[in-house]
Amino acid sequence: MVRCCAAFRDGLSKQKVPFYSEHYWDDTGMQRYCDEPLGLVCSLVVGDVSERSQQGAERRGKMSVRTAIRTLAVAGGAGAIAFVGAATAQVDVFESSVFGPVVRTLVNAELAHRAAVYAAQYGWFGFGRGAVVDDPRLRSEVCGRVFLNPVGVAAGFDKNAECVEGLLKSGFGFVEIGSVTPQPQDGNPRPRVFRLTEDRAVVNRYGFNSDGMRQVRTRLERVAEKPLKGVVGVNVGKNKTTEDAKQDYGAVISELAHLSDYLVVNVSSPNTPGLRDLQHESELAALLKHVMNARNEAVRRERPNAQLRSMPPVFLKIAPDLSEEDKQGIARVCLDVGIDGIVVSNTTVARPDSLKSDKKLVEQAGGLSGEPLFDASTRVLGDMYRLTQGKLVLIGVGGVASGEQAYAKIRRGASLVQLYTSLTYQGPKVAERIKRELLECLERDGFNSVSEAIGADFR
Ligand SMILES: Cc1cc2nc3c(=O)[nH]c(=O)nc-3n(C[C@H](O)[C@H](O)[C@H](O)COP(=O)(O)O)c2cc1C
Repeated sequence: MVRCCAAFRDGLSKQKVPFYSEHYWDDTGMQRYCDEPLGLVCSLVVGDVSERSQQGAERRGKMSVRTAIRTLAVAGGAGAIAFVGAATAQVDVFESSVFGPVVRTLVNAELAHRAAVYAAQYGWFGFGRGAVVDDPRLRSEVCGRVFLNPVGVAAGFDKNAECVEGLLKSGFGFVEIGSVTPQPQDGNPRPRVFRLTEDRAVVNRYGFNSDGMRQVRTRLERVAEKPLKGVVGVNVGKNKTTEDAKQDYGAVISELAHLSDYLVVNVSSPNTPGLRDLQHESELAALLKHVMNARNEAVRRERPNAQLRSMPPVFLKIAPDLSEEDKQGIARVCLDVGIDGIVVSNTTVARPDSLKSDKKLVEQAGGLSGEPLFDASTRVLGDMYRLTQGKLVLIGVGGVASGEQAYAKIRRGASLVQLYTSLTYQGPKVAERIKRELLECLERDGFNSVSEAIGADFR
C-alpha cells in the first residue's frame, strides 16, 4: 500500500497534473488549481489548498469559502480512501449508489483517468482475484493472433503503455495502447474531458496528449519481456503541427511495429485539426500504402527473415460520422491496398437529441463516446461489413456496456469488440461481466463460439 501510494505520488508529480473540478467549483464561482498533485492528495485529506486559490478567493472577498474547502477536502479525502479501499476489496464501487456518484463529483474526469491508469499499473484492477481463465468458447484466432476472449480496451485509456499488464490481468483479451505520436506533445488545454453522467457518456478533446514514440518504445520493450496472456495493439496518431501526416504515421510504425501484435492507423479523432480529412479516398490510399511499407521495413530490420504473415496486421480506425460515399471509398481503398481490417468507430462529433445531461456539458467541443454512440457506431460497423463483403476483420467499438451490446456488434460483423467509456462508469469488473453475458447470448442462440456468431445478422 505504501509502495503504491509513493508510486502514485511520484508519477503524478512528474506529470504535474492540474486539478479542475468543473461542476462544484463552477457553482461557487471559483476555480481551484493545484500545481503539485501530492499537494492535491494532501489537500483532499487535511483540507489544505494551494495558496493561489486561497488568494484568488480572498481577492474575490469570499471568506467563507475556506470553510467550504476544508469540509469538501475532508469529504474528498474520505471518499478517495473509501474508493481505493473498496476498489481493492473488489466491492462494486462504481455501480454502487453511493460511492460512484461521490467519486464522480469529487474527482474530475481527467484526474480519475490518471488515477485509474495508476491503479491498473500497480495491480489494483485485478487485486484479490485469481488468474482469469476464459471459457474456450470465447477464444478465437484473428489475423494469426490468438485472442483468449474478444473483449478489449479501446485506444485512449492507456495512451502511453503504462498499464497493459494490469488491464490484461483484469480480464480483457487485448489492449490497444495509444494514440502514440512521434514527438511528445501535451494535447489541448485543460479541462478537456467531461462526464455526461446521466447519459453514461463522455466528451473528450484530449488532442493526442502523448509521451511520444521513444518513451512508449521503452515501455513496450519492458512489456515484451513479460509472459503476458493477451494481445497488445498500437494505435498511431500524428503530431498536431506536422504537415505531412504520412511521415508521422510512418515514423511511429517504424519505431514500434516489431513490438506490436497489431497496428491501428487512427485517422478519425475529431480533436486534431484536419485529421479526419485523411479518410477521403484520395489521401487514404497513399497513406495506407506508406504505412504498409513502413511496417514491412521495420519488421524486417528487426527480423530479416520475417514472413509477411508474421507481420503485425494493419487496421484503419474510422469515424462514425461518414457519408455513404466516404464509407464506400474507405471500403474500396482498404480492399485494394490489402490492409487487414477496420476499427469501427472513434467518437462522434454529433450530439443526439436524446442526450439528457446539462447543456453546458453536451455542448463542449470534442468527441462523444459511451452509450449514446452505440447505435450509430453499430450501424456503421454493419455498413462496413457489407461494403467489404466480410473480407476484412472488423473491431467493433462504441457504447459497449453489456454482453448483449458486445454480442450485437459481433452479429453485425465484428470479430472483436472494444470499450472505453463503460470502463470508466462500471470499473474494471466490466470485462468479466461482459464475457459472462456474452456467453449467455451465445448459448441462447445456439452458437458454440464467438467465431460462429460473427456477421450472423447478414446470413
Ligand atoms: C477520453 C478518451 C480518449 C480517447 N483517446 C483516443 C485515442 O487517443 N485514440 C483513439 O483512436 N481513440 C481514442 N478514443 C476513442 C475510443 O478508443 C473509442 O473509439 C470511443 O471512445 C468509443 O468507445 P466507447 O463508447 O466504448 O468509449 C478516446 C476516447 C475517450 C473517451
